[in-house]
Amino acid sequence: MRASVKAAATALLGCALSGCAASSTFLAPSSPIASREAWLFWVVVGMAAVVFVLVEGLIVLVVIRDRQRGADEGEPRQVYGNRNLEIVWTAIPVLLVITLFGLTVGTMRAVAAPGPSSSDLNITVIGHRWWWEFDYPDLNIKTAEELHIPAGKNVQITLKSVDVIHSFWVPQLAGKTDVIPGQVNHMWLRSDQVGTYDGQCAEFCGAEHALMRFHVVVDSPTDFQAWVAGQQRPVPAAQTDQEQRGQDIVLRGPCIACHTIDGTSAQGTLGPNLTHLSSRSTFAGGAFSLTDANLRQWLKDPQAMKPGNDMVVALSDPDIEAVIAYLKLLR
Ligand code: CUA
Repeated sequence: MRASVKAAATALLGCALSGCAASSTFLAPSSPIASREAWLFWVVVGMAAVVFVLVEGLIVLVVIRDRQRGADEGEPRQVYGNRNLEIVWTAIPVLLVITLFGLTVGTMRAVAAPGPSSSDLNITVIGHRWWWEFDYPDLNIKTAEELHIPAGKNVQITLKSVDVIHSFWVPQLAGKTDVIPGQVNHMWLRSDQVGTYDGQCAEFCGAEHALMRFHVVVDSPTDFQAWVAGQQRPVPAAQTDQEQRGQDIVLRGPCIACHTIDGTSAQGTLGPNLTHLSSRSTFAGGAFSLTDANLRQWLKDPQAMKPGNDMVVALSDPDIEAVIAYLKLLR
């Protein structure tokens, strides 16, 4: 008995601690939406804690008191129904539920999207199995893995899916919104705190659901302008022989069937837009850091790194090095 209790406690603690390892919890809010949601959470936890302590406390009190009395006092006084008591324990839960309802509706109103304004940033987020596409229609930017937004600005997000139901979730910035094929959903974001926030698909969408990640980078307004300028800059031409060789492999091979590189013959739309790939910190659905070693492994055998994804390649080791040299140009 002791051992099983200990095992259960260890398992529970393990779950709780591993859940707390990352900072991407809604309990560390970095936006007005997430702050309000965290506030409601703590109010509910507080109310539940008061009820728990009261009810459990009374039970423990009665158990201790009646144990001390012993068995020789006979049956206690029998009480069948007590109108006042009945009224009290019906009224208190009803009041609690009404209060919770009011607080929930108030929170829903507080975090509802403000009406669109011309100063807002518009972004279309498209869910793919298993990566996120980010389109900035007004800025003519298409990217993936990293959603850049400027601090202090309302961002209106349009959510679409090309395949199955996904769910767009940045715990520290806002609650989840489903991304549904054939339906356009909307949500909004705003953060006044510069930083990078983890995002995750929150609806099971297949084998690599867990590796359908992304980051939201909240930039200062000047950093955001610099990022926009970088994304709008045309891709530089290959300089070295190695870059040229990589460019030939990419642009004359099957890569262009799925990927776009602006200003080139690569205009595929099945996979992430690679135009400014090397300006990002991750790739393959935010799953891996964008390092030479990871890219090398990915180009060697993408199915081993993320089984079931759409990427298929067959490149020799020297070709892989050339492709990496070319991809590094795409900043
Ligand atoms: Cu997309 Cu889970």
